[in-house]
Amino acid sequence: MSKMRLMNTTTIAHLKDHVGSAVTLKGWIYNKRSSGKISFLQMRDGSGTIQAVVVQSEVEPAVWEASEKITLESSVHLMGTVSKHPKLENVFELQVSGIEIVQLADEDYPIGKKEHGPDFLLQNRHLWLRAPSQRAIQRVRNTIINGIYEYLNREGFIKIDSPILTPNACEGTTELFEMDYFDEGKAYLSQSGQLYIEAAIFSVGRCFDFGPVFRAEKSKTRRHLTEFWMMDAEAAFVEHAGNMEIQEGLIVHVVKKVLAKNQEELALLERDQEPLKKIEGPFIRKTHAEVVAELREMGSDIQENDDLGADDETMLTKKYDKPIFVEKYPAEVKAFYMKRDPENPKVALCADLLAPEGYGEVIGGSQREDDYETLLGRIREHGLSEEAFAWYLDLRKYGSVPHSGFGIGLERLTAWICGIQHIRETIPFPRMINRIYP
Ligand code: 4AD
Ligand code: MG
Repeated sequence: MSKMRLMNTTTIAHLKDHVGSAVTLKGWIYNKRSSGKISFLQMRDGSGTIQAVVVQSEVEPAVWEASEKITLESSVHLMGTVSKHPKLENVFELQVSGIEIVQLADEDYPIGKKEHGPDFLLQNRHLWLRAPSQRAIQRVRNTIINGIYEYLNREGFIKIDSPILTPNACEGTTELFEMDYFDEGKAYLSQSGQLYIEAAIFSVGRCFDFGPVFRAEKSKTRRHLTEFWMMDAEAAFVEHAGNMEIQEGLIVHVVKKVLAKNQEELALLERDQEPLKKIEGPFIRKTHAEVVAELREMGSDIQENDDLGADDETMLTKKYDKPIFVEKYPAEVKAFYMKRDPENPKVALCADLLAPEGYGEVIGGSQREDDYETLLGRIREHGLSEEAFAWYLDLRKYGSVPHSGFGIGLERLTAWICGIQHIRETIPFPRMINRIYP
């Protein structure tokens, strides 16, 4: 019996190959109802969900008893015959013949059918992750990650892992998580691996990293986490315009892949797919100066030399149905490493990519300053330590080349593609200024 059972163990995703056969499924009961003589157990196993039907008159008393006492979230092995759903395509049922309870869950599973507030759900994130919507988001996130690897590998980028413990700041000293590092003084958690993958392009030409980064900024908004996942890409001999083309190709590829692979998840999330279907190149390209004029006309009080505020990004991106590159920001609001526009040294050769539907910035990128003296000047202007950046300056001494790169915030991209309002739902365990548990 037990040998038979092991042989027929399968997953819900594979049931179409087992119609009419006896199988074993291993998973969790997430819902149940009983009519006294028949009980319906809703089971998930990670690969899908299924309704399992237990008919009292057709099973041994012990099996019926098990179906009666089973609690929500109990882990089980269910044995039975696979049948097709009478009406729905590609939906199957299990006519149960045996039940083995692996662990009978405590009866007080905190996440019930009723609506819970975000604080309660976040406090129970370890359990909330089991909810259908949360599972769907994680599946889309997985597709996005794979899509990014796929596109970049195809375009000749190889993965180079950058360090997380670093001796210097990449994006801004006010946003650093700091610690004492043995006898070496202070160390910081990385804000972006960019500077390190810049070093690596002189070896491999094109590369990317993909990992957690940390920002100690005190922003409490729907777009900010203190720990999030960033993909930084960097390429030698690529200038500002080429940099945007790579980003455009990447976003188009990822959106298409999600549309192809995650129909079920998008439907479950009630994501309107029409806006996603319109994501094709070329994206809109506007300079910061053009955008400021446009926003002022729309009622914003943004000034010539201001960075775009969250409200500005929301307003602008609701107006268009394609992503927008906002190019050439005033250099003073951007990072020290960005190359200036030779035609107007007040602006940087940079672009932020803003996602439509009010989402706003998902990518930040630029051409990098490749001249030694100019970069040294910027490091001094920004009050950064020459000593700490000596290695970064070396890259401009030995075979310097024009080069560019960009960084994608995975959670912001996932939130947009899933149509989720707050990015905290797109990361398994969000870290925010007021939350570190669980
Ligand atoms: O624009 P950022 O700060 O750019 C950089 O860090 C560059 N060094 C990247 C590069 O050129 N390689 O961050 C890049 C992206 C943003 O566009 C945004 O999507 C995301 O990272 N991001 C955040 N996501 C969640 N929470 C935060 N606090 C974020 N800050 C930035
Ligand atoms: Mg940015």
